[in-house]
Amino acid sequence: MKKDILTLLDLSKQDVDDLLCRALELKQRHKKGILDTPLKGKSLGLIFDKPSTRTRISFEAAMVQLGGTPIYINARETQMARNEPVRDTARVLSRYLDALAIRTYSQDLLKEFAEFTAIPVINALTDLYHPCQVLSDLLTVIEYKGGYEALQITWIGDGNNVSHSWINSAAVLGFKLVLACPKEYFPNSAVMEKALAKRSDTITVTTDPVEAVKNADVIYTDVWASMGQENERNTRKHVFEPFQVNEKLLKNAPENVIVMHCLPAHRGEEISEETLEGPSSVVWDQSENKLHMQKAILEALMTQNK
Ligand code: CP
Ligand code: NVA
Repeated sequence: MKKDILTLLDLSKQDVDDLLCRALELKQRHKKGILDTPLKGKSLGLIFDKPSTRTRISFEAAMVQLGGTPIYINARETQMARNEPVRDTARVLSRYLDALAIRTYSQDLLKEFAEFTAIPVINALTDLYHPCQVLSDLLTVIEYKGGYEALQITWIGDGNNVSHSWINSAAVLGFKLVLACPKEYFPNSAVMEKALAKRSDTITVTTDPVEAVKNADVIYTDVWASMGQENERNTRKHVFEPFQVNEKLLKNAPENVIVMHCLPAHRGEEISEETLEGPSSVVWDQSENKLHMQKAILEALMTQNK
């Protein structure tokens, strides 16, 4: 049966550990100049309905490096823009392609794609989740901290799509996750409930960023207004001001804390220039690891029936 990655809850701890292990191996082999081409002759469609730099290019490069072909599909230039039903598009595309990576607004639309295709569907970001981001971030956490199990990851800022995928990953993997968000911007309650039903002892939400970073091994932040929320940017700026990740906040954290951000960053909003460019920041390695994790994901999903 084909496997999709629509949320991190689609994966077991063993699945995640296997992906991390393979991504690390593929990264080392890539650095040594060894070519692995298990996807020769295969095509990945990338349907993107929102902008992207990292996710799109890392998936495209990953596909090329694995011997396959990426096909970028701007959703607005397809018949979907003229209301061709998703289920028709999905069935047609699955006759041409071997997998689909989709970035869109609605998680339900993604689910419908998955339901009506015979090929693996990968969530490349929706309003609700960004699972591949967190999978590659875990690779960075392992590289810097030697593992994830005994760690505290602290999320500072908006209870958004990336935070939801961190919540799911804590439920699947069992590390400690503390989220500090303004009360009005707590993570989605349905997402929380689902994760807590799986595992209730690892996730805490607070409104106090200072308290949240006290025992943090990793501090993670993201934009205050996500794609699609641009018109809320000014209102949000005011509410989120006490949640900026900066040198003052870092003074309350352990000295060896690392700072992560999925990027793109708004310097002077969710993170200060000094902290983003400072010694605790690992954001460039974090970005690179998207390439290696996307390769592990594509290989796992696209060769599973062999
Ligand atoms: N982090 C991330 O998903 O970046 P892009 O929006 O550039 O893909
Ligand atoms: N939360 C951000 C993540 C971008 C990678 C957004 O959805 O815009």
